[in-house]
Amino acid sequence: MDRFVIKGPCRLDGRVAVSGAKNAVLPLMAASMLTGGTCTLENVPDLKDTRTMMDLLAGFGVVSSLSRGVLTIDASRISSFEAPYDLVRTMRASIYAFGPLVARFGKARVSMPGGCAWGPRPVDLHLKGLAALGAKLKIEHGYINASAGKLRGAEITLGIASVGATVNVIMAAVLAEGRTVIENAAREPEVAELARALKGGGAKIEGEGTSRVTIDGVAAIAPFAHRVIPDRIEAGTFAAAAAITGGRIEITNCDPSQLGAVIGKLEECGARIEIAESAMTVTGPERLSPANVETGFYPSFPTDMQAQIMAALSIARGTSTVVDRVYPDRFTHVPELCRFGAKIARDGNVAVITGVEKLEGAPVMATDIRASSALILAGLAAEGETTILRVYHIDRGYERIEEKLGAIGASIRRVKE
Ligand code: UD1
Repeated sequence: MDRFVIKGPCRLDGRVAVSGAKNAVLPLMAASMLTGGTCTLENVPDLKDTRTMMDLLAGFGVVSSLSRGVLTIDASRISSFEAPYDLVRTMRASIYAFGPLVARFGKARVSMPGGCAWGPRPVDLHLKGLAALGAKLKIEHGYINASAGKLRGAEITLGIASVGATVNVIMAAVLAEGRTVIENAAREPEVAELARALKGGGAKIEGEGTSRVTIDGVAAIAPFAHRVIPDRIEAGTFAAAAAITGGRIEITNCDPSQLGAVIGKLEECGARIEIAESAMTVTGPERLSPANVETGFYPSFPTDMQAQIMAALSIARGTSTVVDRVYPDRFTHVPELCRFGAKIARDGNVAVITGVEKLEGAPVMATDIRASSALILAGLAAEGETTILRVYHIDRGYERIEEKLGAIGASIRRVKE
């Protein structure tokens, strides 16, 4: 298992380009199974999760290939309908196979995704949505088995504005008979992105990006070609990196309009942010000011940026709070940040961070994608050497992060084992 060795502190300075969005590309890859031909996606990040999704699709008989950011996916010869435990447990987004398989073939067998390092992550809303469209579901031996004739449109109100459930229902509903209305749909840009790509293949969808999405089923979805949006969380992570190191980073190939809450919070902490159409330049202050952060559904502050802002706040001048309203248990980074000398006390979904003057390099362990990037940020700001174990978590969601950070002044190297 690889590890990262970081020598800090450093002041990052330079330009970095953001890759395509992991959370946009995964549903698009699954959605390609709705077509009987070859879809093409551009600006695709070469991530471990992208490769896992390619493996999952290969298991169904889908042939895909990724080269220089272009992913082609040929879904013309699907012959298996099972998403096995071994893949689903490494990437929960495997559940995205469910909607397309049930809609196009009337059957699917998908392993139940388990919990996460940071708590339970149910899929009940995905299942309720599919059941409302007419799928018959049975959970047996850790697998969800679905069978269905032609799906029928329905009115579905999601109890929680879940990204995954909205995505799965949209993918199923595009081939259902009649109209589906999703109330309390997730408004995340990645959901709107999926709808736009499907519309490129002839789907009839309205209201994407709002909490009411209407889908009028069509007989078939044609193969689509689509360019993937930039990863707003990667962009936010670089912004936090500029803030925590007191550096200056020009972040290109990003969409600042999707980062309002993150930009607002970093500005509150004293960062200066100049915004252009598809770039932004973030300059960190000498010392950050404290802030109170609450995560929520888009356009609120994203839970996927919670760990990174906490790392930054750990060296702010004063006391901050971080509340995670989306995933109340998502705090595995807290004890690891404390190993750097951060002072963080957690009570339920609230963390109280008493800013310290400086962090000290330490051996730490990555536990999930975003917690890992918070550890990198802390390592960049900390004095001395930091070793981060289990970087495969980082590789799931950040493309060549050590190269990107190395090019703007970080001393970070990957040690292969
Ligand atoms: C997606 C993102 C993830 C991000 C999260 C929240 C992908 C691949 N992953 O995850 O990076 O952190 O959105 O922005 O895009 N819930 C239920 N029942 C369900 C589904 C969800 O109770 O059936 C709850 C969850 O426990 C959580 C909340 O709804 O509290 C939001 O989860 P959801 O939006 O579904 O997250 P994911 O789609 O899994």
